[in-house]
Amino acid sequence: MENSNILNNIKEAAAYIRSKYADAPQIGLILGSGLGVIADLVENATVISYEDIPHFPVSTVEGHAGELLLGTIQGKHVLLMKGRFHMYEGYGVDVVSFPVRVMKELGVQKLIVTNAAGGINTSYEVGDLMLIKDHINFTSRNPLIGPNYPELGARFPDMSEAYSRSLRQTAKEVAAEQGVKLQEGVYIGLLGPSYETPAEIRMMRTLGADAVGMSTVAEVIVARHAGIEVLGFSCISNMAAGILDQPLSHEEVMETTERVKPKFLQLILGIVGKL
Ligand code: 6GU
Repeated sequence: MENSNILNNIKEAAAYIRSKYADAPQIGLILGSGLGVIADLVENATVISYEDIPHFPVSTVEGHAGELLLGTIQGKHVLLMKGRFHMYEGYGVDVVSFPVRVMKELGVQKLIVTNAAGGINTSYEVGDLMLIKDHINFTSRNPLIGPNYPELGARFPDMSEAYSRSLRQTAKEVAAEQGVKLQEGVYIGLLGPSYETPAEIRMMRTLGADAVGMSTVAEVIVARHAGIEVLGFSCISNMAAGILDQPLSHEEVMETTERVKPKFLQLILGIVGKL
C-alpha cells in the first residue's frame, strides 16, 4: 500500500462503509480464529464483504470469514471484523492494520481484539480466557514505519497503557459477576505460520510472555496511534510447544474455541453493555 495514498484510501474505505450504514460505530471488535460466532451478537446487522470495500484486502485462512458487520450490541453501535488479516498470509503490516485506521475514521473510540493463542504460562489451562495486560511485539514489524501523518497520530506514540487499565477493570468486574475465570497476562505476537519450538517457548517465558499468537500487535499499535482505547482477550486454545507431550494442531485451536464459545459470548455481551 503506497504511503502517499494512505489518507485517501482510509477515507474511501470509510465512505463506502458509511454509505451502507449511516450510524457511527463507537466500538470496534476484531475476532480471532474460531471466534467468529461473536458476530452473532450483532443485532440488525448490515454485512459487508471485505472484497466490496475499497482498498480492503481479502482474508484467506481457514476459519476466517471476510466480513464486516455493522449493527448494535446492547444498544451500542459496533463495527465488527469477522476475519482479520495476518502477516503469515503474506500481507504487509500496513495492510494488516489498515482496517483499524478505517475504524478510527468512522468514529470508533474503543476496540476489543480477540485471538486464539498458545499458553506459555504453565499455570494456564486449555480453554482459559486471558485478559491481555500488555504485549511484546516479536514480529520485527511496525505499522507506523514511514512518514507520519499528524492527522493519524503522533510520530512516537506512547505505549505505556496499550491495553486500557480502566477497560480491563470493567472486564474483570463483568467476569466476576458471571463467575468466569479470567487470567491476565502478556501476549507475545510473532509472524508465524509455523508454531514455536520448545526452546523458543522457554525463551519467551523467560521474557515475560504468558501467551503466544500470530496477530493483534500491529492492530493495537495502530489503535493506540489513533488514540483508540483497547481491550484484548486471548482464548488459550492449546498449550505452546514443549509444555504437554503432544503436537500442536490448528484443529485443536478450532475445537477449543468452539468449546469456549458460550462463556466468551456472555463475557463480551456483558462488557459491551458497560462500555
Ligand atoms: Cl502455540 N503459537 C502461535 N504462534 N500461535 C498460536 C498458538 C501457538 N496457538 C494458537 N495460536
